[in-house]
Amino acid sequence: MKSDLLHGKKGIIFGALNTSSIAWKVAEKAHEYGAELVLSNAPIAIRKGDIHQLAEKTRSEVIAADVTKVDEIEDLFRKSQEIFSGKADFILHSVGMSPNVRKGLHYTDLDYNYLSKTLDVSAISLHKILSVAYKMDAINEWGSVVALSYIAAQRTFSTYNDMAQAKAMLESICRSFGYHYGKKRKVRVNSVSQSPTITSAGTGVKGFNSFYNFSHCMSPLGNSSSEDCADFCIAMFSDLTRKITMQNIFHDGGYSTMGISDKLIDDCFVCQGDCHENHDEH
Ligand code: NAI
Repeated sequence: MKSDLLHGKKGIIFGALNTSSIAWKVAEKAHEYGAELVLSNAPIAIRKGDIHQLAEKTRSEVIAADVTKVDEIEDLFRKSQEIFSGKADFILHSVGMSPNVRKGLHYTDLDYNYLSKTLDVSAISLHKILSVAYKMDAINEWGSVVALSYIAAQRTFSTYNDMAQAKAMLESICRSFGYHYGKKRKVRVNSVSQSPTITSAGTGVKGFNSFYNFSHCMSPLGNSSSEDCADFCIAMFSDLTRKITMQNIFHDGGYSTMGISDKLIDDCFVCQGDCHENHDEH
């Protein structure tokens, strides 16, 4: 065990699919820091993914729940309370999916049923989880809920598609629910806006390699890895961050504050505007 920072704490981790998943790294670290865990994912992801390996490694239980279904979330919290013999102290929402992205539809020509699904899975699911927990009083005082977001909530990334709206809504739910849960039970709710990270969901976005390398070259500290993200989530779950709530915290090596970097000027921006002139001519 690394330290006992999370000793005695109990957490529910949503979204560990395979060893690349950010949630996987968070679960491994939370276990190393002494937490007791319940792992959850959609039934199909549990059948097709590797979550049982993670459960074995972290000595955790796996409970299936489609995060769009309130009854399945209620069932998950009921079972978790039995496993924990009490309430949870932290929750990680590491869930995202867009059928529009999966089907390669252009942002200007979205399928609106798919858009509803994107928002339901990737954003409204956080509201559903918080609402069930709030009504069941399933999180201890000073508990911590973290949802993973991306800077496309604030800025336009041309191929991020309707996930941009999902992330904007996700961050907004953190602020709104953070108020109500903070007042009622001192539970804090934050989003962590993570660098592009090589995972199943990340690499499914068109142009992911450009997102990844551009932000790496732009950021003074380089991209944060999934291990870095996990470290930060551990800090957010711990009692050392008790007064942080309703925030969107950029965990991105400095990318969100940059305009342009030496690396981009000297090495990466190779066309130096030539392609732009050609583009105008055509
Ligand atoms: P991932 O593909 O490993 O995780 C996404 C998870 O969502 C999977 O485990 C999947 O089974 C789960 N999921 C999808 N639909 C579900 C449903 N109906 N019910 C329950 N679970 C469902 O990919 P990754 O990258 O670890 O994604 C985790 C979070 O991190 C997502 O919110 C993603 O948007 C966010 N993020 C990822 C970045 C990246 O570049 N990979 C950058 C910034 C944020």
